[in-house]
Amino acid sequence: MARQRSPGLVRCFLLSFSLLSSAGVVKTSLAASTATDSSGSATHSVLPSTSLSSFPSAPTQTSASIASPASLVNLFIGTTNGGHVFPGATLPHGMTKAGMDTDSPGNQAGYDANPTFNVTGFSQLHDDGTGGGVSLSLFKVFPFASCGPNDKFEQCPTSLEGRKVLRNVLDNGSPDDFAEPGYFSTNLSTGIRVELTTTRRTALHRYTFPAGTVNPRIMVDITNDGEQSSTNPEMLLNATTARVTGAASFAASFGPGRYRAFTCVDFMGDGFELGPPTQSGAWLGNSGIQQTTNLNQLYFGFVSELGALFTFAPKTDNSITSIFARVGVSFISADQACANAESEIPDFNFDGARQAAFDQWDELLGRIQVDTTGVDANTTQLFYSSLYRTHISPADYTGENPRWNSTEPYYDSFYCNWDTFRTLYSLMALHDPVNFSRIVRGLLNIQQHEGWLPECRGATAKQFIQGGSNGDPIVAEFFVKYHEHLDTLNVSATALYEALIADAEVQPPNWDLQGRQVNIWKTLGYIPSDVWEPSGTNTKQVSRALEYAFGDFAISQVAKIMGNTADGAKYAQRAQNFVNNWNPNVTVPGREDIKGMMQPRFLNGTFNFTDPRHCSVNDPLQSTCFLDAVNTDGFYESSPIVYSQFVPQDTAKLIELQGGTEKFVDRLNFIFEEHYFDETDEPSQQIPFMYHYANQPGLSTQTSRQTIAQFFNTSVNGLPGNDDSGAMGSYVAFYLLGMYPVPATRQFLLSSPYFPEVSFTNPIFGNATTIRVKNFSGNPANGTGGNVFVKSVTIDGQPWKSNCFIDWDAFQTGSTIELEVTTDISVSCGANANSLPPSLSTGGFD
Ligand SMILES: *[C@@H]1O[C@H](CO)[C@@H](O)[C@H](O)[C@H]1NC(C)=O
Ligand SMILES: *[C@@H]1O[C@H](CO)[C@@H](O)[C@H](O)[C@H]1NC(C)=O
Ligand SMILES: *[C@@H]1O[C@H](CO)[C@@H](O)[C@H](O)[C@H]1NC(C)=O
Ligand SMILES: *[C@@H]1O[C@H](CO)[C@@H](O)[C@H](O)[C@H]1NC(C)=O
Ligand SMILES: *[C@@H]1O[C@H](CO)[C@@H](O)[C@H](O)[C@H]1NC(C)=O
Ligand SMILES: *[C@@H]1O[C@H](CO)[C@@H](O)[C@H](O)[C@H]1NC(C)=O
Ligand SMILES: *[C@@H]1O[C@H](CO)[C@@H](O)[C@H](O)[C@H]1NC(C)=O
Ligand SMILES: *[C@@H]1O[C@H](CO)[C@@H](O)[C@H](O)[C@H]1NC(C)=O
Ligand SMILES: *[C@@H]1O[C@H](CO)[C@@H](O)[C@H](O)[C@H]1NC(C)=O
Ligand SMILES: *[C@@H]1O[C@H](CO)[C@@H](O)[C@H](O)[C@H]1NC(C)=O
Ligand SMILES: *[C@@H]1O[C@H](CO)[C@@H](O)[C@H](O)[C@H]1NC(C)=O
Ligand SMILES: *[C@@H]1O[C@H](CO)[C@@H](O)[C@H](O)[C@H]1NC(C)=O
Repeated sequence: MARQRSPGLVRCFLLSFSLLSSAGVVKTSLAASTATDSSGSATHSVLPSTSLSSFPSAPTQTSASIASPASLVNLFIGTTNGGHVFPGATLPHGMTKAGMDTDSPGNQAGYDANPTFNVTGFSQLHDDGTGGGVSLSLFKVFPFASCGPNDKFEQCPTSLEGRKVLRNVLDNGSPDDFAEPGYFSTNLSTGIRVELTTTRRTALHRYTFPAGTVNPRIMVDITNDGEQSSTNPEMLLNATTARVTGAASFAASFGPGRYRAFTCVDFMGDGFELGPPTQSGAWLGNSGIQQTTNLNQLYFGFVSELGALFTFAPKTDNSITSIFARVGVSFISADQACANAESEIPDFNFDGARQAAFDQWDELLGRIQVDTTGVDANTTQLFYSSLYRTHISPADYTGENPRWNSTEPYYDSFYCNWDTFRTLYSLMALHDPVNFSRIVRGLLNIQQHEGWLPECRGATAKQFIQGGSNGDPIVAEFFVKYHEHLDTLNVSATALYEALIADAEVQPPNWDLQGRQVNIWKTLGYIPSDVWEPSGTNTKQVSRALEYAFGDFAISQVAKIMGNTADGAKYAQRAQNFVNNWNPNVTVPGREDIKGMMQPRFLNGTFNFTDPRHCSVNDPLQSTCFLDAVNTDGFYESSPIVYSQFVPQDTAKLIELQGGTEKFVDRLNFIFEEHYFDETDEPSQQIPFMYHYANQPGLSTQTSRQTIAQFFNTSVNGLPGNDDSGAMGSYVAFYLLGMYPVPATRQFLLSSPYFPEVSFTNPIFGNATTIRVKNFSGNPANGTGGNVFVKSVTIDGQPWKSNCFIDWDAFQTGSTIELEVTTDISVSCGANANSLPPSLSTGGFD
């Protein structure tokens, strides 16, 4: 969900969203046209699935396996009205994320699919789906087909405001944009076509000018990030080679930190000798200044926008001129940016880089295969698009860490672990253990140098934490699932455990940026509302405490596996601290039968009161719970009603606190009927699956399917709230797979997949695990009813103890899990004592 620094900002965003939707300007074309990217440059077959203009309303698919899952990815889902999805070019977890930037209010990822917004440039680094201020969006490149009435260098409207230009709009009202994994293109209203692809640390752009262009010009912008935050710019350009090197310092987007970034840009003709530029110089604001090669030659202190501008000679035979711009990026130095570019894209081979990126995506996505027999094409597209977004962030900045030297991998854009710990890494664990292990090594390395695991990190800076230290469940998830493979994966168990213990035991100098308010947590077992410490903000005490408890649970799981039974017991005990915030007497106004809520508590043990409806759509005060130092309500981004469900480690105890199974189910029903379930925000994510714990898994199946049907689709508006670095993408992927993870455990809650068969190939285990629905007969369109309720489960032919969860073991050995489904929603988890999914208070997790 969009996290904002002040309620004022939020209101302003909401207003602009509603204006946009009421204008109804964005329409995804459904023309089943065969129009594809016709650059002729793709050597694989490009399906027409990802163009805004040609997204097909395909008939039900009949093929049984997906030859090219990357072809099915629709990168434009959630790219307008607040999804903040990044649709540009990147490798899986690549550092460079090259994309179009627009002047829309929700341009956190640069792009907006609403064609009434103007284009401001093509920049090299982005995040996906984040809130906060606009992050990165650095070193924009921009082309001019002509400048001013006399087409003069000096008249190029180089400033951010001056250069704004619309995209071409197709007959159906959508912009002429195309994207597939590793590639993005657009046609600007100036007649210039722009194409982008990337390697890990370098972007390659191709600018194709309209026929007859006399002075093709390209500018490089050194100072405009997404936030107008630059200081200390540097720039040098070489008038012969047209190489530009530059740097500036910028603000992090969700915290107090700043960072410095460097670039190195080179140009080359596509199929012709470009030669030296015919004109070159710096630009300041809206003035091109020929012959300047160094900022020291300028009075740049008066102007905050600057960069380099070149005019090139067009292709001499009067045919179309295409010019490549190769943009290296580094957080270390301009020299390193040049070295990155030279080593990654030595020959400016656009088609080769594009193909390599596409192939990497195809291989990665293909590790989860689905049988599409009898499945709507949109469902398959929604699945692979969601899986795709699981692999945009965090980004692999290895070799680019300016803060210390290390041979370990370095990942960045953990934005934020609060969003992603619930589902993203558990999905990764199923099919991408090597990159998961590299991310974990990066997290541990950060802890070794900064003292605590990162919580929200962006552009190499510590950003604001939102709740607990949610790096804990992430590294614990890795350990629980891969502790037998640590040698292969080069992960140190000692380093991992030390990092967890540091979070759990050592209070940081500022818990707004890392770690926890742990001293008082250790003493009291909750975070009192009325204690002010100098080292962090006294806010969101209840939701933080619930996350501390879950973090401690994650640590207990690791301790147990390591054979440290004392720590295992100690942290399992601390994991039960959630009960300390439970006030059994608080009810929802008008619903006295719904009794007991998580509530803020004072040092002296008495409770304060926060209306259970607070921050929900039913809040009479219409409060928001975004990050705000003066919030004393105790909750972050969701209502007390939602947080009163957040105890994944001990739902059995929660049922007891809520007055038993019947009351628990009543409360879940109430949460959906009265719209307390917030599909836009992570704290609600598990709620549709919670009927499992009441032995009514059919209701989970139906509610989770209704959630997908109501709120998620393949349109540009198909994502409620922000994608949050793939938190939403991974969540949707799990729902479509018929699973929901319990992080840091060996269990997955089980429902029925949307496909007759899904299979997972894990490169570490070697063997694929298949989940097959024996009597699959399609998916109910609105999620209601259908032949989808799991009645019995076998694993490798043997009856399995539960219809409600499966164990990690099945994925380790390469099993076949067969489900029998029925139209009877009143199925149960099974008749065994251990059919219900585990909870701490009923024996714990094994
Ligand atoms: C976009 O640019 C066009 C001219 O290029 C201008 O007429 C229009 O007002 C701009 N739109 C916005 C939202 O700035
Ligand atoms: C842009 O124009 C080119 C050339 O006319 C065309 O091939 C391409 O499909 C158009 N659309 C995009 C998004 O590149
Ligand atoms: C520009 O680059 C060329 C080729 O590398 C080099 O010989 C020349 O010295 C450079 N010019 C300046 C001013 O740095
Ligand atoms: C990370 O994942 C990508 C995509 O699957 C793969 O190409 C790359 O080799 C992986 N990295 C490592 C170190 O395995
Ligand atoms: C990393 O090592 C290089 C080469 O020795 C050195 O120049 C640089 O200052 C070091 N960086 C940090 C942050 O220590
Ligand atoms: C583990 O480290 C060894 C030695 O540095 C290296 O060869 C190997 O590729 C690494 N394995 C992984 C999965 O990163
Ligand atoms: C809840 O109400 C009961 C009965 O009035 C009372 O004994 C108890 O102290 C109350 N608990 C809290 C936490 O207020
Ligand atoms: C407990 O502390 C709160 C807040 O400081 C105060 O309002 C309340 O009166 C105290 N209650 C008791 C029983 O001391
Ligand atoms: C008690 O709760 C009310 C309502 O949220 C709030 O205004 C007040 O500041 C809280 N008191 C303390 C000490 O947190
Ligand atoms: C597929 O998705 C598009 C875009 O969301 C929607 O308009 C269309 O109705 C869907 N088709 C089917 C068969 O559900
Ligand atoms: C869902 O679809 C079924 C079958 O078309 C229909 O009977 C039912 O009324 C629908 N339910 C809702 C809530 O739309
Ligand atoms: C893969 O499956 C085969 C047959 O079930 C089994 O013998 C082998 O041990 C499995 N491999 C791994 C790595 O689990």
